[in-house]
Amino acid sequence: MAMNVKKSQEMQVYEKRKRVQHMFSFIASRYDLLNHLLSFNIDRLWRKKAACRVRGKRILDLATGTGDMAIEIAKRDKNFHIIGLDISGEMLSLAQKKARDARLENQIELVQASMEHLPFRSSFFDSVVVAFGLRNAQDRIRALFEMFRVLRKEGTAVILEFSHPAIPVFKDVYLYYTQCILPLIGKVISGHRNAYLYLPTSIAAFPNREYLKHAMRAVGFGNVYCKLLTLGIVALHTGKKICKV
Ligand SMILES: C[S@@+](CC[C@H](N)C(=O)[O-])C[C@H]1O[C@@H](n2cnc3c(N)ncnc32)[C@H](O)[C@@H]1O
Repeated sequence: MAMNVKKSQEMQVYEKRKRVQHMFSFIASRYDLLNHLLSFNIDRLWRKKAACRVRGKRILDLATGTGDMAIEIAKRDKNFHIIGLDISGEMLSLAQKKARDARLENQIELVQASMEHLPFRSSFFDSVVVAFGLRNAQDRIRALFEMFRVLRKEGTAVILEFSHPAIPVFKDVYLYYTQCILPLIGKVISGHRNAYLYLPTSIAAFPNREYLKHAMRAVGFGNVYCKLLTLGIVALHTGKKICKV
């Protein structure tokens, strides 16, 4: 009985992963345009802020998508070596092209895999980053455990993700924008009926910053800190792998 429940949960995770992978592959060619347009270009600033928190030279960028975060980090220092990981081959092809165009292909390596099953040995990376990706993970706690595992002792985790603005009036305007305007523009430009309905739904379903801080501590991170950006639209969480091994 317990075996059957576990199997059916694994099937659900697998099916959700396939759906998410398919959706991102479908919208890949319009992803950057929509990102910059729908965020009024502020997404670039958010990634820059996250890149500043990265420490060390061996860096893993989870859910790298079209590679903007990896490129932002690589530009900071030519000694940085970044592995960008994603489940979507289409997103990774675009990331590859962008890295080549920016002459950063020697610094950025791309790997197709899931962030819940990282194909790297333990304690390998100085920093692990995930920008707007943890929300999409099919098993977030497992992804957090994997981040922790592959980080070296004292290594840094950086999580950039949408949050829930709490300022009265602004909160309502933001909700109206994300739930009514954004899906409409997203649908017209991406050509995908549901992808930009998925965005506000997944933002709403993503735990608030206190929960995420708690989850990071629960998997073992120390010095967990959260900074809100742009009136709380986005939260930047950081933590350190504090342990004896
Ligand atoms: C919203 S995009 C973020 C891309 C990029 N980090 C950025 O800053 O724009 C989310 C990405 O997560 C990827 N993704 C979703 N589930 C994943 C998983 N389980 N493992 C790895 N990548 C995943 C998608 O393919 C997509 O490229």
